[in-house]
Amino acid sequence: MTDSIRLDGRIALVTGAAGVIGTETMRLLAARGACIVAVDRDAEQLKLAVKGLPAHAEALAIVADVTREDDVAGYVAHALGKFSRIDIFFNNAGIEGEIAPIVRASVENFRRVLEVNVVGVFLGMKHVLPTMLKQNSGSIINTASIAGVIGSADIAAYSASKHAVIGLTKSAAQECTGTNVRVNCICPGMIDSRMLSAIVVGRNNGAPVPPEKVYDRIPARRLGLAAEVAPIVAFLASDDASYVSGSAYTVDGGRTAS
Ligand SMILES: NC(=O)c1ccc[n+]([C@@H]2O[C@H](COP(=O)([O-])OP(=O)(O)OC[C@H]3O[C@@H](n4cnc5c(N)ncnc54)[C@H](O)[C@@H]3O)[C@@H](O)[C@H]2O)c1
Repeated sequence: MTDSIRLDGRIALVTGAAGVIGTETMRLLAARGACIVAVDRDAEQLKLAVKGLPAHAEALAIVADVTREDDVAGYVAHALGKFSRIDIFFNNAGIEGEIAPIVRASVENFRRVLEVNVVGVFLGMKHVLPTMLKQNSGSIINTASIAGVIGSADIAAYSASKHAVIGLTKSAAQECTGTNVRVNCICPGMIDSRMLSAIVVGRNNGAPVPPEKVYDRIPARRLGLAAEVAPIVAFLASDDASYVSGSAYTVDGGRTAS
């Protein structure tokens, strides 16, 4: 398509780059011309994900844990060392944690989920924003979830963490007042992925769940694909979204409309 959003020469930093949504999104950003800095804690999968990028793409892979401030400062410094700027930050790494009702859930799990999904997102913005503010340009896209918009039984820590991501996004957008730095988040719904299967099967005591039971409350009557999330990130990253900041974009086949 000739009228697709182009991101030629933009520097895109992507965390959770080895996961389903991160990999698909960095592939699309690269296909549209961006240079990629791919960050994940899983070295093996990260290598594979970067290998799958279009041949023309300029890319750097960095193994880092988003919960460790020195790692976060390190991946930002590494990105700047190679490319001198950061135009797009897809702050996406996350975990679902254990699947259990609050009364049976462990506090260790609660802390761990908040540590990755909230502290990780906070640290990413803390270390990327100074560069974007100095450039007076940039787009941050945090990954929340529809679990950040509505309640979700058996994944209370995850839901709380994603509500927090929306709050962090809106607060950061306000802190960028008067600049050309925009901060938004996406709220994917049920995306065909390892994470969704873990949640659905975990809620069913480990037993498989018939697809109709999952689609039941989705007006689109199917799961979404990571390839349907990536273009929303590309849009928010682009100048086409120049008046969009502080927003939470649902990509959920209508799930939260009901
Ligand atoms: N899959 C879905 O249905 C769905 C729906 C809504 C939101 N989300 C969110 O989208 C994001 C990506 O999810 P996904 O489906 O691609 O999951 P995934 O498990 O495939 O990918 C997550 C990636 O994050 C990485 N990661 C986890 N903890 C990390 C840490 N401490 N430091 C660095 N990297 C770390 C993992 O190694 C993994 O590669 C997550 O934030 C998730 O909560 C997913």
